[in-house]
Amino acid sequence: LVVVCGGYSRHGSRRLPDDLLLGAATASYQIEGAWDADGKSENIFDYAIHNQPCYAIDCSNGDVAANSYYLYKRDVEMLRELGVNFYRFSLSWTRLFPTSFTDKINKAGVEYYNNLIDELLKNNIQPVVTLFHWDMPQKLQQLGGWLNNNIVDWFGDYAEAVFVLFGDRVKYWITVNEPFQICEFGYGNAILIPALNLTGEADYICTKNLLLAHARAYHVYDELFRSKQDGIIFITISTEWFEPADNSNIEAANDANQFWWGIYAHPIFSKHGDYPRIIKERVALKSRVQGLPRSRLPELSPDEIKYIHGSSDLFGLNHYSSAIAYRNASTYYYYSSFTGPSHDADAGYMSYKPPEWKIGESDRTMYAPWGFSKILAYIRNVYNNVPVFITENGFASHGGLVDDDRVTYYRGYISAMLDAIDEGSYIIGYTAWSLMDNFEWWNGYRENYGLYEVDFNDTSRPRTPRKSAFFLIVIFIAFVICKR
Ligand code: BG6
Repeated sequence: LVVVCGGYSRHGSRRLPDDLLLGAATASYQIEGAWDADGKSENIFDYAIHNQPCYAIDCSNGDVAANSYYLYKRDVEMLRELGVNFYRFSLSWTRLFPTSFTDKINKAGVEYYNNLIDELLKNNIQPVVTLFHWDMPQKLQQLGGWLNNNIVDWFGDYAEAVFVLFGDRVKYWITVNEPFQICEFGYGNAILIPALNLTGEADYICTKNLLLAHARAYHVYDELFRSKQDGIIFITISTEWFEPADNSNIEAANDANQFWWGIYAHPIFSKHGDYPRIIKERVALKSRVQGLPRSRLPELSPDEIKYIHGSSDLFGLNHYSSAIAYRNASTYYYYSSFTGPSHDADAGYMSYKPPEWKIGESDRTMYAPWGFSKILAYIRNVYNNVPVFITENGFASHGGLVDDDRVTYYRGYISAMLDAIDEGSYIIGYTAWSLMDNFEWWNGYRENYGLYEVDFNDTSRPRTPRKSAFFLIVIFIAFVICKR
């Protein structure tokens, strides 16, 4: 009650927005398992990890994961126990459309999501559905994935088919989860599958195609479905707040913020759209220095700028942590070779997380709730206070039911969110990542984010609430009481 109702608000008593929704999230490849059951075809993770079994540090994969394909009823029961208003989950493209195209629908896949959605609604929990949380069909990857311009049509067709299938019951749609991780880690680098490591241009081509594909899904919904289905649709952008190391690094920190998330947010939410000026100028300059005839950043035409601009009803915000940024002279002034991913090398910054931000054992997520406040203030001021849906926030740990560090983390970050609301941020929803332990993309099962612990050594995958689950139950009850 103290956290929520205002005991320690910096602004006296708190007013909670009546429409603030609370929920928890997962993603298909990370929890579903059943990787080849009932007609599902391979996505890029199935394919790549089967060919490279030690891609994740513990040499694990998502073949079975938390087995939610079979255990979805228990998942919904957990959500009911938590008292959430919504559940954010993602659709597996290849479970629904094994050919990758919409000519052939896999009935079993449709049935699985119908059952999940119906079970949620029966329990008064709204489905918040992500169309794409990284598990690209392998067939489309063979055709280039996000590097193929046709992805705009493929994604648009997929989105349309999904709106037809589930839009009568789903009122919150997220087009794409975290473009930066997809394009930067997967195309510009070799961190995330497809791990192409094509530094220089590929991540910028991916960026452009992804923005256009997202916008296509938005316009399809807006023009063909919104009036009948009455839902909202938005993109989720991952944000890290970069704070300058000192006064001489203010520009470096701004570059870091722009190259991380401004490149996606600015074309959609800024006053006039298009990429941030700093990015266009920097990449053009560095391309010239390299002797290239044109910028490695493919430009957006006036029509494309218009098409992307405003193509999101809300700002879907994933936020975990912050970092300190400073200028990296060697990449800022020169660009001799593609030694790093293009965003990083073009932006010319370095960053670090001071050890004093660490709580508990984990150094994956560091504790800096003030960075969350700064992001929310930035959105208020620079993006005209567009409504925000916080679609992920959470803390990584190494297991155990008494997760005091996670409790500390949630307390700090939820408090920062409430302060932002007091300061005028319009926040629609808050989502804890994650409902349960799952396959973490790089760290397999060695790292976990779950409010519920999953025992991956037991074939029945039992789920047990952690202390943080009880903490959030109390917080969520307090939200209801304080709203009255
Ligand atoms: C987000 C993703 O980037 O962070 C999730 O949307 C992911 O799918 C979560 O599990 C945690 O990521 P990490 O980098 O700590 O494994």
